[in-house]
Amino acid sequence: MTIKPRSLLIGAATYIPGLRNFTGRKTGGTVSARYCYTVWLRHLCMLHRHDLPTRFETVAELGPGDSLGAGLAALLSGAERYVALDAVRYADSARNLQILEELIALFRTRTPIPDQVEFPLVQPPLSSYAFPDFLTSARLDAALSSARLDLIRAAVADPGTSLGDGRSVCYNAPWTVGMIGDAAVDLVFSQGVLQFVRDLPGTYTGMAGWLKSGGIMSHEIAFQSIGISTEWNGHWACSDALWKLAAGRRRHASNREPHSTHIALLKKAGCQVVTDERAVRRSGISRAQLAPRFRHLTDEDLMTSSALIQAVKLT
Ligand SMILES: C[S@@+](CC[C@H](N)C(=O)[O-])C[C@H]1O[C@@H](n2cnc3c(N)ncnc32)[C@H](O)[C@@H]1O
Repeated sequence: MTIKPRSLLIGAATYIPGLRNFTGRKTGGTVSARYCYTVWLRHLCMLHRHDLPTRFETVAELGPGDSLGAGLAALLSGAERYVALDAVRYADSARNLQILEELIALFRTRTPIPDQVEFPLVQPPLSSYAFPDFLTSARLDAALSSARLDLIRAAVADPGTSLGDGRSVCYNAPWTVGMIGDAAVDLVFSQGVLQFVRDLPGTYTGMAGWLKSGGIMSHEIAFQSIGISTEWNGHWACSDALWKLAAGRRRHASNREPHSTHIALLKKAGCQVVTDERAVRRSGISRAQLAPRFRHLTDEDLMTSSALIQAVKLT
């Protein structure tokens, strides 16, 4: 058996009314400005490395979590508008404002990108953690002008709910697909989110619909079982019934979709994959152990523990 007994107990307990709320009360790293800074700059550096644009008018983020910091970093590097869409409203204006001030200081001093020593679990790794050259002084001077920062502070204190509000920051949680109009966004990004999304086909179609033609998606996705099974990929050996019990009604339980599902859905949504940086790990299970519904996994899927996938909307 690959499921940890403790996970089974926790999963089963989430079916008891009232206990579900004890899972997923926090989301991860975005309580830290340095975490938000490293996440945003990693997406941006990988775009640059693959000859994709690094300047955007409107940026949308799926699943920002405990703060809107990664998207605020996007504004501080020149984006005009940022819209955050989450399943649950975790962030609040007080924390966002505090993180904003810390981010401003990090950008003003062109602080190097926090690396794998400081954040060993953050993906993707970069070949250099120096502050990126393409964020030139002229670009940052314009982005960090005091008049502009005052407008951003006001929008963070009182964010809009949809792009139509005309504010530079919008926060909508829980979101629905029609929340952003068609062809309104230049970049959609997410960090550690798409492995939890239940309706992946609908979400990819929705995100592609938001993008302008030539718009970009940048998603960092983890494929591990996140501690529920003893092997990092033991969730693919697990029957649906056992998984249902172990994952329970936790807010953050993996949808168990492998790397190839995301690539296929992006293509189906009319996007061309440009970047596919996979983190590869030895499989913890053999092909013979795969549960029937995961027998189709490729050997590449079985060994891909996370990936940064960047794609361009074709039409
Ligand atoms: C592990 S947290 C990651 C948070 C943040 N991006 C970070 O890097 O720390 C997962 C986030 O995905 C969000 N999430 C899960 N399903 C979602 C969905 N269908 N749409 C939007 N966000 C979702 C959760 O609410 C949570 O904020």
